[in-house]
Amino acid sequence: MIPSQRHLFDIPDHIAYFNCGYMSPQLKSVRVAGHGGVDRKSAPWTTQPEDFFSGPNRARSLFAELVHAEPADIAIISSASYGLAIAARNITAAKGQKILVLADQFPSNIYCWQELAKTTGAEIVTVEAPADHDWTHAVLAAIDDKVAVAALPHCHWTDGALLDLEVIGAKLRKYGAKLVLDITQSIGALPIDVARVKPDFLIAACYKWMLGPYSFGFMYVAPEFQTGEPIEYNWLNRAGSEDFAGLVDYQDAYQPGAGRFDMGERANFAQIPMAIAALEQLLDWTPKRIQETLRALTGNIAKRCAKIGLTSLPQDLRAGHFLGLRHQDELPADLLQTLADDDIFISKRGSSLRITPHLFNNDADVDRLVSALKAALERR
Ligand SMILES: Cc1ncc(COP(=O)(O)O)c(C=O)c1O
Repeated sequence: MIPSQRHLFDIPDHIAYFNCGYMSPQLKSVRVAGHGGVDRKSAPWTTQPEDFFSGPNRARSLFAELVHAEPADIAIISSASYGLAIAARNITAAKGQKILVLADQFPSNIYCWQELAKTTGAEIVTVEAPADHDWTHAVLAAIDDKVAVAALPHCHWTDGALLDLEVIGAKLRKYGAKLVLDITQSIGALPIDVARVKPDFLIAACYKWMLGPYSFGFMYVAPEFQTGEPIEYNWLNRAGSEDFAGLVDYQDAYQPGAGRFDMGERANFAQIPMAIAALEQLLDWTPKRIQETLRALTGNIAKRCAKIGLTSLPQDLRAGHFLGLRHQDELPADLLQTLADDDIFISKRGSSLRITPHLFNNDADVDRLVSALKAALERR
């Protein structure tokens, strides 16, 4: 178990922030790294051509370590939607085939598939929320020889309901179907191993559980797709781009590996050092220990909230870093605002009150959250 790491963040004592699934607060080390990058632009004579490669490659390596992939399998992207657009561009689907998604899935992992369906005649099939909350079982039941691709998360963004991606991935492969993952709501806090799950594309934005900057992310691309088509054609991704003097010797060939999919201006001199600092901290804590620590914390909240009529998914069907609380009656419309007025921050997604803590939370935060929820429910 990791003790509260609040001292590594800049969160005043009176703030009880349970909203990492919305946006994580910044580690002090990440802020310092970002300031260093901003300052650096004031003195461009200190930036050398090799710096356009060394920072991105260090970030790539650290992300690869986090997901148990090779650095060459990782592309640097600007957002989950950017990576998902690349995946949708490179996956083939045809009339009569299906694209599997979950009910109420995050829109970045829907719109690109709607476009693919429009251009190919494939059909989007939505797996409905199962009454027993077992999404793994529900997805497995929807996989057949008509499925071209399943576009899924590791846990549902509204309430943290968990999917067993290893089992789902194995069944998809049996039918020759592809697996595209948006793990923005789990990467960093929930371990994942691409060698076991074997996704075709795995995509994550940085600004939530990776504790990194906004407008930045990473994408794992399986070797089979590393000769695919990017969605923009920038010069840094072409072979030999290290030689700035020779850039007008235009090249058809790309840099090796997933680097062909890197976003334009991927060598962002403020964001890259921030992402590196965040990834170093996550790897030091390890996603496994983060998950165990947050599972204990959300378990404690769930137990206390059950006494005031707020129910949540069974422990084994939800990710430990997420808690979706529901009440049999309508919740007060101003509940979130009432809590925010008291400096307690949570979200509402779908019908769930979404509690998403991180290692900056402490026992005092938990006490305040539970008391405030109890008071708000009693006032109804
Ligand atoms: C599951 C999931 N994916 C992706 C994102 C962010 O998407 P994008 O990077 O396209 O803005 C969010 C934001 O809430 C999310 O919950």
